[in-house]
Amino acid sequence: MNMPIIFCLFASDQQINLIQGFLKRTTNQTLGKITMHQFPDAESLVTIETDVSNKNIIFIAYLDRPDLKIFQLILATETARMLGAKKITLVAPYLPYMRQDKQFHSGEGISSIYFAKLISHYFDGLITVDPHLHRWHSLTDIYSIPSQVLHAADAVAAWISKNIAAPILLGPDSESTQWVSDIAKKLRAPYLVLSKERFGDQQVSSNMPEISAYINQHFVLIDDIISTAATMLEAINHLKQQGVKNISCIGVHAIFSGPAYQKLSAAGVNNIISCNTVAHESNQIDLIPLLLETHNQ
Ligand code: R5P
Repeated sequence: MNMPIIFCLFASDQQINLIQGFLKRTTNQTLGKITMHQFPDAESLVTIETDVSNKNIIFIAYLDRPDLKIFQLILATETARMLGAKKITLVAPYLPYMRQDKQFHSGEGISSIYFAKLISHYFDGLITVDPHLHRWHSLTDIYSIPSQVLHAADAVAAWISKNIAAPILLGPDSESTQWVSDIAKKLRAPYLVLSKERFGDQQVSSNMPEISAYINQHFVLIDDIISTAATMLEAINHLKQQGVKNISCIGVHAIFSGPAYQKLSAAGVNNIISCNTVAHESNQIDLIPLLLETHNQ
């Protein structure tokens, strides 16, 4: 079979080991060799050592904290094209720049559109996991290349079912309904969703629905992104005020900016869990099989 050559960019050692292990078990394929050198003046040079001439290739790129990585990714793509690569697919386990999906204040741009234009210009296809689709309903609203959205729901449901008895799921804002309802259905568990308003990067306020019937159950908060953790902390405060004892937090994409993880850890919850789309010490749910099975089909 003519498999595309896979290159990893911006991956942690653990992510690389998991990817290599998966490829070894399934296709016996090895990763393509790419190196990124930074000159003393902070400019970058990409070298692709594996022959890509006339081959389809995949860049698995971990794009949290994206701004510097994006330019390096463009350098990698241009280099691959110059070396004769045919189709170039971007696998972005976490797709950044999805949250600025409207002009929230006058003078602002809508960066999700600009980022989508950039990626659509350089790549032939995009695969990602649970992008933040809120005001955009589909990636095709803004991406002009073929795209595939994978979902963490099965893996998250499997983790909950193995680790938490009789959970009640809680989505911290209206857009989390899509993830929480799907996981609840798989677990045949009840779920509730809060309504949230954001006033600034770190300021959110939410309204809790009636929870008195569930106080003694284990609440599992599920969100797509944990960034400042303000959303999770607001929901935890409500639950604690009402006397809930057991609370776990699950985020698909563990961005955890600044002291967010420390703040969430200090909130006294049972578990803080994430998928490994962004490398973080909370990673307990491995989505590499999900990402790579798609490419093996
Ligand atoms: C946005 O609505 C997302 O679904 C998350 O709720 C949000 O990104 C979490 O951000 P933070 O952790 O900064 O509250």
